[in-house]
Amino acid sequence: MGACCSSPADNYEPGSKQAAGSSSAHHHHHHKNQKQEAQKTPDFGLGEDFEVIKLLGTGGEGETWLCVDQRTKREVAIKLVRRPIPRSITQIIQREIKILADLGDGHLNIVHADEVLLTKTHVGLVMEYVAGGNMVAFVTKRREMRESRGGLCIDEDEASFFFRQLIWAVQFCHKNHVAHRDLKLDNTILDHRDPPRLKLCDFGFAKAWASNSNMDTMRIGTPEYMGPELISGRAGYDGKKVDVWAAGVLLFVMLLGMFPFEMEDENYVNTAGLYSIWIQQIRTSWQESPHNNSAVGKLTKDCRDLLDKMFDVNQDSRITIDGIIRHPWFSRPLPEKYETALAQLQEEQRAIDSRVAGGNYRSKERDAQLQMLLDKATIPPAAGENILLAGVGRTPHN
Ligand SMILES: Nc1ncnc2c1ncn2[C@@H]1O[C@H](COP(=O)(O)OP(=O)(O)O)[C@@H](O)[C@H]1O
Ligand SMILES: [Mg+2]
Repeated sequence: MGACCSSPADNYEPGSKQAAGSSSAHHHHHHKNQKQEAQKTPDFGLGEDFEVIKLLGTGGEGETWLCVDQRTKREVAIKLVRRPIPRSITQIIQREIKILADLGDGHLNIVHADEVLLTKTHVGLVMEYVAGGNMVAFVTKRREMRESRGGLCIDEDEASFFFRQLIWAVQFCHKNHVAHRDLKLDNTILDHRDPPRLKLCDFGFAKAWASNSNMDTMRIGTPEYMGPELISGRAGYDGKKVDVWAAGVLLFVMLLGMFPFEMEDENYVNTAGLYSIWIQQIRTSWQESPHNNSAVGKLTKDCRDLLDKMFDVNQDSRITIDGIIRHPWFSRPLPEKYETALAQLQEEQRAIDSRVAGGNYRSKERDAQLQMLLDKATIPPAAGENILLAGVGRTPHN
């Protein structure tokens, strides 16, 4: 049985004071214990400017907290990582922050980053707060009633509604020469609308901290979402093709509530776990795997065909993001509420596209500020050091 979405969201209760659960399947064991703990808000050294409200998610090195920006009275999400950060990785972090600031400002389906903070104890990435929780929680909730939808957690219409938004976000990243490399349900969050907008988050801000640790796999993906070329590590891989594979896994999990290729035991750190996934990927088509036997029959022919092309073991012949967009399943006619919401989204997106044409939202000045801030983050705080703000993406509030 898949741990793809059941466990992490055990902790999830919208609007409650409880933790929003793990961001990755293989971390969820730690978080079970947190469930009963009363959440007292820790001191991140944010001072008067931010009121810390509740924990939204926990990753390898960082925590994301809902806060209120007292200057604007707006709710924001702040991803916080403890100082000092190793100097060797400030480049990686800077890159990740830039990506979110640049791309999030340019696309409605990518979470928007406002600024980076340096406190006595932490580095914080301030983002727009996306109130609807992550897709893990969403799919988990739907899983209970899946029999009423022909065994699907999310039916194909609704899945297509979300999948289109995801693919638009990924297309935008690829156009800007960025591969996400960690696409999964945990890294897609939903807003408060009905039907919700999907936003891609997590470009590795926190994971970069852990990147000197033994295995690189933490940084480049979650085993169940990893393409075969990534696991085998034989030749170089193309981050864009890896994104396509992972998006296929994401679609499959949305529909069926289980992984198409599953770790035989939870012991993923063991390369045997990775190997077992790889064997499933290359041995036979996903449709012929006994594990997926009952699943396949629940999907339409078009949907199976698209998944087939995304789960192409050969990255050279694997369908591309543009190919996905041209595929008939992608543009299947949807119920009116979805079509209307998507049309509205696309119209707003076009307005943004014309505003930022030419990528003129990137700022040299901001990059330099960021560099200075990250340099400071590598050393212990000076006595009496105060909160620093580096505006990214938007005009800084000062
Ligand atoms: N901007 C945001 N608004 C609301 N929730 C968020 C936001 N960013 C992250 N989260 C929540 O926190 C979790 C972890 O965030 P993520 O960026 O994926 O960090 P990590 O590197 O720890 O995986 C997400 O799965 C989501 O539930
Ligand atoms: Mg994440």
